[in-house]
Order: sequence, then C-alpha cells, then structure tokens
Amino acid sequence: MCGIVGYIGPKNAYNVVLKGLQRLEYRGYDSAGVALYADDELKICKTKGKVSELVKKCEKENITSGHIGIGHTRWATHGEPNDVNSHPHVSNSGDLVIIHNGIIENYESLKKELTNRGYSFESDTDTEVLINLIEDVKKKENVKLGKAVQVALNQTIGAYAIAVFDRNKPNEIVVARLGSPLAIGVGEDEYFIASDASPFIEFTNKSIYLEDGEMAVVRLGRNIKVRKIKNDKLIEPYVQELQLSLDQIEKAGYEHFMLKEIYEQPEAIKDTYRGRMLPEKGLIRMAGIDDNIEKFLNARRIIVIACGTSWHAGLVSEYLFEDFARIPVEVEYASEFRYRNPIITEDDVVIAISQSGETADTMAAIKIAKEKGAFVFGVCNVVGSSISRETHAGAYTHAGPEIGVASTKAFTTQITILTLIALKLGKQKGEISNSQFHAYLNELDSIPEKIERTLQTNDAVIKVAEAYKKAKNCLYLGRGHNFPVALEGALKLKEISYIHAEGYPAAEMKHGPIALIDEMMPVVVIATKKGHYEKVVSNIQEIKSRKGKIIAVVTEGDTSVKQMADHILEVPDTFEEFTPLLTTIPLQLLSYHIAVMLGKNVDQPRNLAKSVTVE
Ligand code: AGP
Ligand code: GLU
Repeated sequence: MCGIVGYIGPKNAYNVVLKGLQRLEYRGYDSAGVALYADDELKICKTKGKVSELVKKCEKENITSGHIGIGHTRWATHGEPNDVNSHPHVSNSGDLVIIHNGIIENYESLKKELTNRGYSFESDTDTEVLINLIEDVKKKENVKLGKAVQVALNQTIGAYAIAVFDRNKPNEIVVARLGSPLAIGVGEDEYFIASDASPFIEFTNKSIYLEDGEMAVVRLGRNIKVRKIKNDKLIEPYVQELQLSLDQIEKAGYEHFMLKEIYEQPEAIKDTYRGRMLPEKGLIRMAGIDDNIEKFLNARRIIVIACGTSWHAGLVSEYLFEDFARIPVEVEYASEFRYRNPIITEDDVVIAISQSGETADTMAAIKIAKEKGAFVFGVCNVVGSSISRETHAGAYTHAGPEIGVASTKAFTTQITILTLIALKLGKQKGEISNSQFHAYLNELDSIPEKIERTLQTNDAVIKVAEAYKKAKNCLYLGRGHNFPVALEGALKLKEISYIHAEGYPAAEMKHGPIALIDEMMPVVVIATKKGHYEKVVSNIQEIKSRKGKIIAVVTEGDTSVKQMADHILEVPDTFEEFTPLLTTIPLQLLSYHIAVMLGKNVDQPRNLAKSVTVE
C-alpha cells in the first residue's frame, strides 16, 4: 500500500512529485524515491525512511529537476524497508523505470524464468521482477512500451497501480491498475498521476479514475487513451470534476492531522446528513437506500462487514438496526468472513463499511457476498474508491479526507450514515412512530453542536493524559451502545501510543478481566445517564473496591459517578442511541494527548498505514 505520483509538463517535476509524495505519505512511509528525466538523462534518488529524508538526499545529490518524473512512498510487502528495495525500480538495461503499489503474487515463478534467461535482480521486491518482465516482452516482441506493459501484466497474478517510464521515450508515462487506486489529473498542458487526487488538486480539479483492469498511455499533447488490459478494448475516459479543496487536505493550523480531524467532526457530521436529513419535513432521503428500499425492507438480516474502526462502527449499527428497524444484524470482520464458508442468500443485505474504500479484506468479502447473490451496500468516505465502485449501491460519508492513520471523523460519520439508514428503515417499517421519528431527527440535528461542547473537555482530558501517560495497560468499559465505543477507545490508545489497552462490555469484567485490577490499572468507563446507568455504576464500584483508577465519561451534571471516579469527562445529554457520537470524542482526545506526551508519531504510527490494501 504505497503512494505513487507522476508528472509530465512544463513545471519542475521534482517539486510536483515531492510535494505529492508528502501528501500521500499516509499510505506508507517505509521508504521514498523519485526518478526524474532532465537533459537527456534519467536520474534516480531513493532512500529508506520518509519523504523528508528523500528531499535531503536529492538536494545533496543535486537531483532536483526534470520535466517528467515519477515518485513513490512505500509500505513494504516484499523485502525489508531499505534503500535497495525502495522504488523506483529499474530494468536490467537501465531503460525502464517503474513505481508500483500492490503485490505481484506470482513474482517468484516469473523471477525464476527471467533469471534463466539471464536477468539479474538487485532487490527482493516483486516490483523489480515486473519491470524486467516488461523489458523482456518489449525486447522479444519488439513492441512499444504500452504494448509491452499490457502483455506483461496479462502474465501476472496480483494487484497493482503502476507507472512506467522509458528513458528512450521521455514524453510519456504508461499507467495501469488492478486492485490499487490510480487517478490521472488532467491539466491544460500537463498531466499528473497519483494514488488519489491530493497531489494534483492544487493544479487541476479534472481527474480520470482508472477502473480495475484498465491502462493508459499518458503523453503530452495528446488526449489520454484508456484501454482494457485484457483485450485491448479502447474505453472512453470519464473526466470527473472534483470538489476536494487543498484546504481540506492540509493541516489548517493544527499540530497533527489527527487533532484537526477530531475537531472537524461537528462539520463532518453536518456534511454527512446535509441534504439527506430534513428534520422540518420529517424526512430522510438517501438515493442509495430509496432506489433499493424493497431489498432493505425485505431483508432477512443485515450482515455488516468491515475492519478495524469501521468494524466498530458496524457494531454500533447492530444496536441501531435492532432498536430502530427490528432487523437482525450480524457484524463480521471482513478478514474472517472472506475465509469462512458464510451462509448468505439473496434475502440478505450486506453493508460494507470502509473509510478508504480500498481495504483488501473488505473488498474480498464483498466479492464473496456478491457471488452468493446478496445485495451489497457500501459506506465509504473516499469518493471513487474501489469499494464504492464494487458495491451495488452505497452512501458516501462525506467526511473529507482523513489523513491521520488513526481513524476519528470517519468513525462518527459512518455511525451517522448508519443511524440515518436505521431510522429510515424503522420509520418505513412502522417500528417508529411519526412523533418519535421527528424527535430523533431533531436530536440528531443537535449532535454537531453537542460535539462542539464535548470538545471543550479537552483541558480536562489533558489532565487525565498527564496522570496516566506512563501506564502500561488500560481497560475500557462500556455497555449496550457504548460497548463498541469502549473497543474503539482501546484501539485508539493502542495504535498511536503503543500502550496495551483492552475494551470490554462492563459486565464481562467479573468473568475474568477484573483479576487485572490493581492501583496501577486505569479503567476508562462510559457511564452516561441513559443506558444501563445503574448497572455501570455497580461495575465502577467493583473496580473501585479493588483500587483501580476510574476515568468516567458521564453525562453533564452527573453527581453519583463523580463521587466514585478519580476523573470525570462530561458529555451533553442525548438519546441513548446517539451517545456513541459523543462518548467517543473524549476517548479520541485522550489517546491523542497521551501519544503526543510520549513523543510518538501520532499521524503515522509505527507498522501501520492508512489503507490496508494487502492481506
Ligand atoms: C483505525 O484507527 C485504523 N487505522 C484501522 O483499524 C482502520 O479502521 C481499518 O484498517 C479499516 O480501514 P477502512 O475503514 O479504510 O476500510
Ligand atoms: N510490493 C511492492 C513492494 O513491496 C509494493 C508494496 C505496496 O504497494 O504495498 O515494494
């Protein structure tokens, strides 16, 4: 899961590509590299580490200009992260150069064949095999670069978004995709290539998204020609006008993307329901649902598939669909679902949730569900992403780009979409009365303002973070709608501060985890007024009597828990069903501040990448 960037045009390709790589660094940051063509010479600079390291190296080696260039930021799949395995990779003749996002699964057998024919390899990557395969085809069949790429790709098994350049043909870049994203930015007299639009949005809002199995030759002074890799069929490219602004992508004055994204949640949620929820008319309209309403109303059950934080949003939706619409729900890890033999019928509706829309496990699970005849509905954030295209219908969360690896606004906007769907189905099925429906819509409409208020707990959260930043372990407890929030709080702490944390349903404590409690153990408990309050209070007492430290998330004005807890973090009152949208906020802030205090890389935690496009 790497980031790829390319440029052809009058600008200095070095500047465009390097800036683009910085924007795509969230996709991987094991190494970075660039290939530039200037003054009849192809120059390559690559290094282990971040794009900032690459900038230093390029400046030192004076590789800082070119009218055509390609660059890569890597999340290693084949071969450890080091200089040699960094992209771009060059063919044996030194003529062809490639950047690649994905995995060539049959690279070993291809490598063997090529080795037998005299090719040698410097790196351990699958990518170097691919570029030599392309070279081999080009020489053997005496064809142009585009054709050679096509023939070679038809011999591969796997996933790729690639950009290939021939130093003997310095006016074109050949691109292709299968399973990994690739967009072409179309400027006046220039072209951009990137894994998403962020590297070129400041220059053009016109973009062509290649579909799976398509390739294109990007050549200056000529319209883009798109073809099917399999059968060479010419495709009329669809040029999209993007709405994304650069402002949305950059940090807007916040120290980290994660903090910016936490604070964006009130607006992001408004963007999610804007135009869909009309409280004054008592209406929810969502094209993806309206067009398929019978499927949802007649669903025998809903199966939710997702990974990580999106899976937690799925768990929240289980309560929502059951409460509002009385439809049975199963929530599955996509990675497990895809390797079981799940029993799915045409009467099932599958909801796939994914911020990036590129998660490989979720994608594979969708394909299985479709094969078995289910109707698959996608909830994605990234417009034009693979999952949004693979599903039968869907709804975008419209949260704007989420760059921090730790998912925050994606989670709350996913819950918002799922709430809208559950409410709509509940109303349509007659499970919710008119007056209840109105009350729910009005309350949902007030959630952004309540999140603003919740964000004001930031100072109190900083104090809690100060007190527990040295903890080695932490427990998160919640019941009902807030049980998934406990899981999500624990995941956030784990992934960015590297503190071991577990989430549990509060009542499960007595079945084992309570043995862990001592005076060193911070326990974060979600104890809002609505939703099993008395029961949670009893659980707090059980922990207190074993000297555990309690950090309680409570409803504003709560007095009982205040007396027992070591720290309280207040959220406004709301309907029980909507509490996750508020209680999750202080937990996001807590993990953020602890990670910052510990000096961790908040936006790019170790071993992780934003979209997991490999198994
Ligand atoms: C969340 O903070 C994680 N980084 C991760 O669990 C993420 O939610 C998961 O990889 C799923 O990603 P997706 O929503 O893009 O499919
Ligand atoms: N397989 C390539 C490598 O390891 C690309 C990795 C990726 O896209 O994640 O270099």
